[in-house]
Amino acid sequence: MNIAILGSTGSIGKSTLEVIRQNIDSFSINLVSANTNHELLLDQCEEFSPKYSFLHDESSRRLFEENANKRGIKTSLIHSMDDLEKAIGSAETDIVVAGMVGISGLIPVTSAVKSGKKILLANKESYIVAGEYLNKLSKENGASIFPIDSEHSAIHQCLNSTKNTSDVSRIILTGSGGPFLDKPIIDFASITPQQAINHPVWNMGKKISVDSSTMMNKGLEVIEARWLFDISDIEVLIHPEGIIHSLVEYKDNSLLAQLSVPDMKIPIAYGLGFPGRINSGSKKLNLNDLGSLNFMEPDLDKFPCLGLAIELLEEGGTSFSVLNAANEICVQAFLDERIGYQDIYEIILKVLDRIEIKTVQSLDQVFESDRDSRTETLSIINQL
Ligand SMILES: NC(=O)c1ccc[n+]([C@@H]2O[C@H](COP(=O)([O-])OP(=O)(O)OC[C@H]3O[C@@H](n4cnc5c(N)ncnc54)[C@H](OP(=O)(O)O)[C@@H]3O)[C@@H](O)[C@H]2O)c1
Repeated sequence: MNIAILGSTGSIGKSTLEVIRQNIDSFSINLVSANTNHELLLDQCEEFSPKYSFLHDESSRRLFEENANKRGIKTSLIHSMDDLEKAIGSAETDIVVAGMVGISGLIPVTSAVKSGKKILLANKESYIVAGEYLNKLSKENGASIFPIDSEHSAIHQCLNSTKNTSDVSRIILTGSGGPFLDKPIIDFASITPQQAINHPVWNMGKKISVDSSTMMNKGLEVIEARWLFDISDIEVLIHPEGIIHSLVEYKDNSLLAQLSVPDMKIPIAYGLGFPGRINSGSKKLNLNDLGSLNFMEPDLDKFPCLGLAIELLEEGGTSFSVLNAANEICVQAFLDERIGYQDIYEIILKVLDRIEIKTVQSLDQVFESDRDSRTETLSIINQL
C-alpha cells in the first residue's frame, strides 16, 4: 500500500510514520507534505524515499530544494496546489492520511475523495464544514472516509458488528475534559496559552490542544460523528483517564466500548490495517494497573463552546463553517496573546450572529462563508 501523508511533520503525521516503521514491509510512502518544516520533511524524505513532497510555504520550498540537492535526496518537490491534487489523485496513491490542521485540508481532502481513495481523516475541520458534500462525493466516487480521531475510531470499531444503524440507540463520545476540568470558572479569565496547550492526557498540536481545553474539540467531534455515522442521538461523557475512547449503545441496552492506552498510533493502525489489524507499536493497556475509571457529565457553563457546537446541529448548513472559521481565528489570536481565553467563545457567538447561514449546495459556498467569517472575526478582534 502506497500512502500520501498530508501534514507529515505534525503530531498525527509523525505517529503515522511510527506505525509505518512497525509495518515497513506492508506500506511505502508516495507523498509527504508540511507547511514550513522543511528540515523534518527532508529527514522524512531521506528515510522513506517518497516520490513527492510538498511545502505550502514558498520560502520553505527554496530551503528544502537547496538542502535536498546537498544531501542527494531524489524526492520531487511539488510547487503548486494543482500538482499536489494530481499526486494525491494519482493511481500510485492508495491511502491518503489527512493530518494537516484547519480548513487548509479541505481542497486536498476533496481531491482524495474525488479520486476514490481510502482517506484516513484526522483533519476534522474540513469534514465538519463540508461533511454532507464530502459524503455525497465519496459515494459517487467510491471513496471511503476513515476517522482517525480516537473517539470516532472507537465508534467505528464498536459499530463493526452491526450492519444496521437502526439497531443503535445512542453514541456516547467520551472526552478527558482537558486541562481545566477541575479549575474554578472564576479563574478562567487568567488562563494563558501555555496552560491551555498543556493537555493532561494527549500530546497534540497547539490548535487542537486549545480546542480540547475549551471543549470546542468535543463539540466539533459531535458534528463529525453526525456526518460519519448518520446517528443523531449523540451524548458527551467526561472520562478524565482517557481509557474508554467512546461507546455505542444498542436497542437492547447493550453498550460496546473500545479501550486502550491513549495513543493515536492505535486509531491510525486501525485505519491503515482495516479490515485487518496491524501492529501499532503502542503500549498495552494493563487493566490491573488502572484502579478505577471515572465518568461525569460535561459542565456547559464552564465549557460553553461544547453547548454551542451541539446547538448548531439543528441549524446545519454553513453554520459549521462559520463556527470553524471563527474558532480557528480566535484560537490563533489567543495563542498570539491578542485576546483572552474567554473571548474565544464570546467572539464566536458574535460572528455566528452576524453572518447569514445558508444551506450548503457547493464547496464555493463553504469557502465564501469561511472567508466572510474570518473577516468578521478579525474585525471584531481588531476593535477590542
Ligand atoms: N494530534 C492529535 O492527537 C489529534 C487527534 C485527533 C485529531 N487530530 C486532528 O488532526 C489534525 C492535525 O493535528 P496535529 O495535532 O497533528 O497538528 P500539528 O501537530 O499542528 O500538525 C499540523 C501539520 O499540518 C501542517 N500544516 C499546517 N498548515 C498547513 C498548510 N496550510 N498546508 C499544508 N500543511 C499544513 C503542519 O506543517 P508544519 O509542521 O510545517 O507546520 C503539520 O505537518 C487536526 O485537524 C486535529 O484536529 C489530531
